[in-house]
Amino acid sequence: MRIGVLTAGGDCPGLNAVIRSIVHRAVVDRGDDVIGFEDGFRGLLEGRYRKLDINAVSGILARGGTILGSSRLEKDRLREACDNAEQLRRELGLDALIPIGGEGTLTAARMLSDAGIPVVGVPKTIDNDISATDRTFGFDTAVGVATEAIDRLKTTAESHQRVMVVEVMGRNAGWIALESGMAGGAHGICLPERDFSVDGLCTMVRERFARGKKFAVICVAEGAHPAEGSMPYEKGEIDPYGHERFAGIGNRLSVELERRLGTESRPVILGHVQRGGTPTAFDRVLATRFGWHAVEAAHRGDFGNMTALRGTDIVMVSLADATSELNTVPQNRMDETEAVF
Ligand code: F6P
Repeated sequence: MRIGVLTAGGDCPGLNAVIRSIVHRAVVDRGDDVIGFEDGFRGLLEGRYRKLDINAVSGILARGGTILGSSRLEKDRLREACDNAEQLRRELGLDALIPIGGEGTLTAARMLSDAGIPVVGVPKTIDNDISATDRTFGFDTAVGVATEAIDRLKTTAESHQRVMVVEVMGRNAGWIALESGMAGGAHGICLPERDFSVDGLCTMVRERFARGKKFAVICVAEGAHPAEGSMPYEKGEIDPYGHERFAGIGNRLSVELERRLGTESRPVILGHVQRGGTPTAFDRVLATRFGWHAVEAAHRGDFGNMTALRGTDIVMVSLADATSELNTVPQNRMDETEAVF
């Protein structure tokens, strides 16, 4: 069997662990050929790929990023690929394609699958926003990085009696903010799922200062918005890939809190630090299991589906179901922490 692998969309720790696992299971155990497309779907469309053997994946389990490179694909180019799907498959001699990616990549994978390419998807994203799987790999690593940042910010905030506003990733789903905020004991958590109250944050900080705790750490997801009219803030424009360009809520909120409270505030934007570097043990294990199951699915002819974690089991779910809705933070998870504003 000839299996093609690609990584697309924003990178995330654990991608290399999936690639390694696919090669181990497919090439070593099953005698398949595995080729890796460079730079996501672009490599597929442009015929840029390389053979992946056991040596090509040696030593990459703990390495962040992706040895194959990644990119986002414009919608027009994807439609073109779907129109020529059968020809593309024949030219490349592909018996299966395993795209590893987030919501955008899995939507593209579903379109290619509908167009006739035998696809087995593997979900990834630090945002943990894919609804058909309990977890995506990369999330645990990102939460660890953000939690450590909150721990560190607390000590310097306390020394200087400051309000630290730490902005974490999370475009539509606030899982990183919720879980790192809980793990780090943030005093305020702002999520994209619920417009936050600036008044509420000010009251919380004033109460802390009044009882002698003269510092606070607020963890805000990049996609969080203030309640209408509560502070100056406009939504960003939409980029060529359909994503909102964020207007920098961490910076804006920090300025607003300092103005209202008369207390020093500093913004800290964690950004891509959350996506770089070595994956945690949890993410390495999940990624490795996904890779193994993706190869098995390809051999069963279980196409149009993706690997998913349900409880402790890996199951296959349809790409259509996987991309129909996002996994956002539900009300009951917000209710569990009084830090959510
Ligand atoms: O989707 C994952 C993600 O890390 C989001 O949390 C973030 O908004 C986005 O990717 C950043 O994308 P880019 O790397 O293109 O700036």
